[in-house]
Amino acid sequence: MTKLLSVSSGKGGVGKTTVVSNLGAALAEYGRNTVVVDANLTTPSLGFHLGIPLYPKTLHDVLRNEAHISEATYVHNSGLRIVPAGLSVNDLKNTSPDRLADVLLDMVGEPDTVLIDSSAGLGNESIKALESSDEAMFVANPDLPSVTDALKAATLAEDSGTQVYGVILNRVRDHPSELSVDEVESMVGHPVISVIPEDNGVRESIAMKNPLVHHAPHSPASVQMRRLAASMAGVDFKPPKRPGLLRRLLQAFQ
Ligand SMILES: Nc1ncnc2c1ncn2[C@@H]1O[C@H](COP(=O)(O)OP(=O)(O)OP(=O)(O)O)[C@@H](O)[C@H]1O
Ligand SMILES: [Mg+2]
Repeated sequence: MTKLLSVSSGKGGVGKTTVVSNLGAALAEYGRNTVVVDANLTTPSLGFHLGIPLYPKTLHDVLRNEAHISEATYVHNSGLRIVPAGLSVNDLKNTSPDRLADVLLDMVGEPDTVLIDSSAGLGNESIKALESSDEAMFVANPDLPSVTDALKAATLAEDSGTQVYGVILNRVRDHPSELSVDEVESMVGHPVISVIPEDNGVRESIAMKNPLVHHAPHSPASVQMRRLAASMAGVDFKPPKRPGLLRRLLQAFQ
């Protein structure tokens, strides 16, 4: 059965799109039939993270009833499928998220998981993404403003009957000023399902337009995203094997 799972936050810039692109790529690697949808209609960026920003048909066309969602679904070279959003100002001005639930329902049946990359804020756009989902996960950084907004977003999800899957704590540096996992869980009232460390590889992978789980599979954030994907896919997590010293030396000189 298809699960529609939105990745939301409240506060912006906390790592939703990074989580969607990497979790999607890792789920696809674990054999889950996965689609990622850029439901951030005002400031989309999922296509950039996956290295394919421009598409002939997008979710904006689908929401305006000018295309079927199957015409706006593309296959990434990882096997992951993506429904991108349009990047033009015209798209931004002339598209409403009101039909989001209806158009996503058209996908139900074939994929195992549809990951919905939500916009920041708690306005109509992100509420529509929550209402369109069976479950939601909330990305927060380990600080008070971010966790407070995650709590608000989780409360809105519950109000719309969407089950809360859990909280992903991202950009954790283990600094004494940060909120701990226990503190976050007691504030939000939901479990922290993943702790993703601050990792310079993330910025690098976005610049390389390649999800971190492919760009640097052994990096700390990559390992945590793979671990979460494995638990969602119901498979045992095995850390990816590191190449031997000789191969690493050869790669360094390529
Ligand atoms: N674990 C991490 N370590 C280091 N940098 C990170 C990490 N996660 C995300 N970032 C950085 O944070 C920035 C914002 O990430 P991202 O675009 O995924 O956030 P977002 O929540 O989707 O933002 P928006 O609300 O604007 O959609 C990225 O440019 C990336 O460089
Ligand atoms: Mg984003």
